[in-house]
Amino acid sequence: MVVLTPRLQAVADYVEPGSIVADIGTDHAYVPAYLLQHGIIRTAYACDINPGPLQNARQTIAQNALSGVEFLLSDGMLALEGKQFDTVIIAGMGGELIARVMAQSPLSRQKQLCFILQPMTKADYLRTFLYREGFAVREETFAAEEDKLYSILKVFYTGESVQISNAYALLGGAKAHPLFEQKRQREIVRLRKIDASLQHKADSEPMREEILQLIKEIEEY
Ligand SMILES: C[S@@+](CC[C@H](N)C(=O)[O-])C[C@H]1O[C@@H](n2cnc3c(N)ncnc32)[C@H](O)[C@@H]1O
Repeated sequence: MVVLTPRLQAVADYVEPGSIVADIGTDHAYVPAYLLQHGIIRTAYACDINPGPLQNARQTIAQNALSGVEFLLSDGMLALEGKQFDTVIIAGMGGELIARVMAQSPLSRQKQLCFILQPMTKADYLRTFLYREGFAVREETFAAEEDKLYSILKVFYTGESVQISNAYALLGGAKAHPLFEQKRQREIVRLRKIDASLQHKADSEPMREEILQLIKEIEEY
């Protein structure tokens, strides 16, 4: 039986029952396995750029006596051309890599496709990229693991390019979530530390002003 960590559980919870899922960077295929095990989906593509992780994926599916998974050695979504699916999961990668995977395939510009994205780092970079490139975040949540807070985004392509604020890029839209206040305080502490480290550096005034402005935006967000 596959038991998911809170981060991957939050990802799995965003999958609509009956979806056909493509899990990019699947590694152990824990999310597809969980979704199959609970009857939430019947079919999935488990995709990874490396053969080792794809082998891990095969093992998880076999060990749990599951079926319905096609394994694809694929850079991002490139091997998914011509396949049928409606949901793409990209979890456990940095925000910049997720943005690159989204940018590199025209599949991402299909308006009916649902993308469930979970950046390990640089969520602000990813949100700015998504809105600039015509994607919109329809839903967003947090998951906590040990001392880490992760954002999980449900995203669709709209074709409308939007410029977002720096505060929104950093904090995201899950303002009603119980972990939101923790996220806000963490960002303020992080930025104050950067500001303190610049205090005695020459010519740091413009950068410090930007940081203080961002802290104000975050406090008022
Ligand atoms: C840290 S694991 C994440 C596993 C799982 N998705 C999770 O969230 O726990 C990242 C996986 O992404 C794969 N990966 C990295 N770049 C990729 C790319 N461009 N396309 C597909 N997979 C990629 C790696 O081989 C690795 O198995």
